[in-house]
Amino acid sequence: MMRTDGYLLDNRQTEAAEHFSAFAALFDPTTFRHLEELGIGSGWRCWEVGAGTTVVSWLAKKVGPTGRVVATDTDTARLASAARPPVEVRVHDLGAQEPPGEGFDLVHARLALVHVTDRERALRSMVKALRPGGRLLVEDADPALQPLLCPDEHGPEQQLANRLRHGFRGLLADRGTDLPCGRTLPRQLRDAGLTRVQADAYFPLTSPACAALESVTIRQIRDQLVTAGLATDQDIDRHLENVMSGALDLTTAPMISAWGRKQ
Ligand SMILES: C[S@@+](CC[C@H](N)C(=O)[O-])C[C@H]1O[C@@H](n2cnc3c(N)ncnc32)[C@H](O)[C@@H]1O
Repeated sequence: MMRTDGYLLDNRQTEAAEHFSAFAALFDPTTFRHLEELGIGSGWRCWEVGAGTTVVSWLAKKVGPTGRVVATDTDTARLASAARPPVEVRVHDLGAQEPPGEGFDLVHARLALVHVTDRERALRSMVKALRPGGRLLVEDADPALQPLLCPDEHGPEQQLANRLRHGFRGLLADRGTDLPCGRTLPRQLRDAGLTRVQADAYFPLTSPACAALESVTIRQIRDQLVTAGLATDQDIDRHLENVMSGALDLTTAPMISAWGRKQ
């Protein structure tokens, strides 16, 4: 073992930070637009589930000193710097615990519900936490709805990119990830008792943040792709060079945003 635990931890933290900043660059504008349309404003009490730091800071500004933002996650390490009024940071497992309060005007979860096995229970918990008339916004990707990394597959670089994306999706499916999760959200929100349910989807067709997300994802799953015989090290090196060259139009899985109101 040449590497210490500390070294490995640093690596994990760097990669996680790269992931979170790519998610923020890709999806914050859509999330903020939805939250504005739901009426977010001064004095609101919000629960941000599986919290992203940029969303927490944005919510804190919107609700101001008379509001409240409860930011929860099973791992709150990255949220430490955000933990000052109106933000409260709490360790909380959406899939296993009662909500961290009641009477919220807004509950929001982005890319978090997909990680919970008992989603029905998790949704019931989020709805329970709302005041009557309160709003729930749940956002999750749907990697099966648009499975390609390069929809414009016009050369060998794009073909390689799509082949590796296909392999990645296979690894996710093998691990039990529910690939068509996003599209089921409107139905799940209605089943949880919400009214006025609506949903839409967003995905960029090309963006530097897609390249950043692809680069960190491929570096993280490299060994698994090679071990499963889905790619060679040469394939992966070539793909990473193509990604970094900026010549590929890379996209992501569509992000489904679904929202509704508690009666
Ligand atoms: C892909 S990240 C998304 C983070 C952030 N919402 C965003 O969009 O940038 C998923 C987050 O959900 C958290 N998470 C996973 N399972 C959870 C659970 N059962 N309860 C609460 N948070 C959970 C993870 O720790 C992680 O911070």
